[in-house]
Amino acid sequence: MAAKHQAPKGTFDVLPADEAARATVSGAARERLRAAGYARIETPIFEDTGLFERGVGESTDIVRKEMFTFDDQGGRSVTLRPEGTAPICRAYIAHGMHRLPQPVKLAYEGPFFRYERPQEGRFREFNQIGAEAIGSASPLVDAELIILLDRILTDVGIPDAELLLSSLGSPEARADYRDELRGFLRDHESDLSDEVRERIDSNPMRAFDSDHAGTRTVMENAPRMLDRLGGEDAEHFAAVRELLDEAGVAYTLDGSLVRGLDYYNRTVFEFTCDRLGAQSGLGGGGRYDGLVELLGGPATPAVGWAAGVERILLAMETRPEPETIDVFVVTGGDRAAASALVRRLRDDGLAADLDLAERSFKGQMKQADRSGARHALILEGDGTAKLRDMSSGDQRDVDPGAIAAELGGGGR
Ligand code: HAM
Repeated sequence: MAAKHQAPKGTFDVLPADEAARATVSGAARERLRAAGYARIETPIFEDTGLFERGVGESTDIVRKEMFTFDDQGGRSVTLRPEGTAPICRAYIAHGMHRLPQPVKLAYEGPFFRYERPQEGRFREFNQIGAEAIGSASPLVDAELIILLDRILTDVGIPDAELLLSSLGSPEARADYRDELRGFLRDHESDLSDEVRERIDSNPMRAFDSDHAGTRTVMENAPRMLDRLGGEDAEHFAAVRELLDEAGVAYTLDGSLVRGLDYYNRTVFEFTCDRLGAQSGLGGGGRYDGLVELLGGPATPAVGWAAGVERILLAMETRPEPETIDVFVVTGGDRAAASALVRRLRDDGLAADLDLAERSFKGQMKQADRSGARHALILEGDGTAKLRDMSSGDQRDVDPGAIAAELGGGGR
């Protein structure tokens, strides 16, 4: 026998049994975001590598070591998208969306790719749902987006996610703070991990994210940007908090919250869930007021989030069962007549099926049971029919022509 192929490391197959739970997550996101005026956008699965180097940031883990980058046959460097925000800003600029009424509110869902060490909840190909509102600096938008993600998580059965909230202030204020943090890190250099030490200059904030024990101890006493917010940054953050309070969305202030992407300023947030273990981030995001301009567009404030579909699935308290069909038709006689009846039932909006493997009558009944159908419609040779309720076993005579009406077919 030939060697079996395996799915690449860090990837997975989505099997029919998983579909109902996934549809619940997509459906909740679609509904909530559509109702709030977010229109769907789809961007390519791969982009020019430079978009992410610039947009996500050269010093981030994503750009330094997690991108699936390759040269295409024409010698251009392309990258499987590791995230959706930079591509959406690219599309916003390319399509002149700054001429539309602002903010432009966009929603998306699809696969993303990061070369990370696979473990539970961490994959190399994973799916995100996401939302971006581009073109408004108002704290109303930050709050609207956070509340939407909170509601989506509750809708799918994660009412207990914890919201961590912080603010990174403006780039100017953060530049001063970063200098202060660099000074602090240098004073404690000997206790830090090599990785953190190497990045004191390029990305000192990442020290907050380290799992290195020595670094963690040092960081407990590190200065925090959240304590240094001033002026409009402080006002903005206070307004976001007030809006969340008013909406009844609880949060924990976390001055050590750093996101793995460079484009953020002001509000940043993350929803986490204890049921997830080490990879506890369900979703996160924040403001990125400089990104559109960085990518060559007009200066445009923006805010958004993305959440991991697989993480949400892991954190759901109960998983929806796969959808079952309404009726499985079993026949002791003419198979073509059974097939015609199934066709009519489907046209009438019912989920209907029949045996397609020439099974005996007994075999078909077994198949009806295995199919999980709510009812079996048993066609007798003489043109009469019986409807069997598969869970109770109750059986009664029926007119096959009236089944659709009886079982509530939607009609097409
Ligand atoms: P992110 O925090 O890098 O943000 O990713 C968002 C979510 O995607 C994470 O919270 C996690 O649930 C999921 N995720 C990330 N990496 C993996 C992985 N390797 N395996 C499974 N799930 C994963 C962003 O991507 C930003 N674009 C969010 C954003 C939108 N900020 C502003 N707008």
